[in-house]
Amino acid sequence: AGAAAGIGAASAVGIDLSTRPARSAHQAAGAATAAVPATDGTETVTFYGAHQAGVDTRPQASVTLLALDLNAGTDAGALRRMMRVLTQDAARLTQGTAALADSEPELAVTPARLTVTFGFGPGLVARAGGERPSWLRPLPAFGIDRLEPAWNDGDLLLQIAADDPVTVAHATRMLLKDSRSFTTVRWRQTGFRRTPAVEKPGTTMRNLFGQVDGTVNLVAGTADFDSLVWGAAENPAWLHGGTGFVLRRIRMNLDKWDGLDRAGREASVGRTLAAGAPLTGTHESDEPDFAATTTIGFPVIPEFSHMRRARSENTAERILRRGYNYDDAPASGSVSDSGLLFVTFQADVDAQFVPIQRRLDELDLLNQWTTPIGSAVFAIPPGCTADGYIGDTLF
Ligand code: HEM
Repeated sequence: AGAAAGIGAASAVGIDLSTRPARSAHQAAGAATAAVPATDGTETVTFYGAHQAGVDTRPQASVTLLALDLNAGTDAGALRRMMRVLTQDAARLTQGTAALADSEPELAVTPARLTVTFGFGPGLVARAGGERPSWLRPLPAFGIDRLEPAWNDGDLLLQIAADDPVTVAHATRMLLKDSRSFTTVRWRQTGFRRTPAVEKPGTTMRNLFGQVDGTVNLVAGTADFDSLVWGAAENPAWLHGGTGFVLRRIRMNLDKWDGLDRAGREASVGRTLAAGAPLTGTHESDEPDFAATTTIGFPVIPEFSHMRRARSENTAERILRRGYNYDDAPASGSVSDSGLLFVTFQADVDAQFVPIQRRLDELDLLNQWTTPIGSAVFAIPPGCTADGYIGDTLF
């Protein structure tokens, strides 16, 4: 009855749900290059399946990341009930169907590639009585960190993303209403990229330093992606088909960046600003030549440039970067409070993320303009079938 009510709401405003192009999360993602941008907001990403959507999905334009803390009385039974309801409403909203108790069903009819991805923190896994993957805990402390308690950790993560901010806001509110008797909001972070309506499919995102950011990345649908994101046989059985999530909230000091000339900006990463090409090449996709030297013998791509320091010789130390810009209200007296919601997915946080972050902590030219101020780690459980719910392998 609920589904019918939702479809009713859609048809009441003249949208024929039956003609919506069916696209799997996998298809939507894999193809950063081939994807056709949605123009009318009706495009959907499949909710049910082996993996949760929102990981291999081509990044949408808007995201809200929420960390919730479990209330004292939320035991394993209550968790199960909550995840059932959250799963059901997330599934409906992603398909453009109103939530079960939707107070504004008209807002649900524009899914705009909405995905809802759930993650479990160590506190939730303990409350459920499950086995904690060894890496599911706060990251080790890094020298560059200036973490603010307001942005760290949490029991339950919701990553709500769509190509339209109204869709994200509506889904966020519906899901928070579902979870409010079980949880308390710990933090909420919103981020954005360019909307697909204003750029060519396959364009790599730019961060607020103006850099092309995301060029060298794992590509959905490849064997590397399958093993480095969905792999990790060592993870507890309930997490098979899932992955690990890290969020670093990284402040970017735009005022200080203003003082740096173009050559200095390009040297800090080792890539050009215009095309995102390595300093030894002309196109974004060109392979960097780390051995190339200038006429006076210095490396063309500086030793301490971000690209060079972030790249590992060990190909197992790779991550999926799926970050967003943020631009919040500045403190009084300053012009901006901007940065990256640096989101990564990897099957084993300790083996993949931590070594890269350690190297960048030791030395990275970019550290002069960037400061990690928040940090959180979650386990992303696998997807589920239409009869199940997210987390049913854990409870
Ligand atoms: C590459 C920016 C933080 C890992 C890059 C590139 C840019 C960039 C412009 C080059 C283009 C590309 O391949 O995407 C930034 C900014 C950061 C930041 C502005 C902070 C505000 C981090 C952090 C990590 C990281 C915290 C990991 C812990 C990487 C990796 C690459 C990369 C793995 C690809 C390196 C390669 O060429 O193999 N980043 N980044 N970045 N970054 Fe970052």
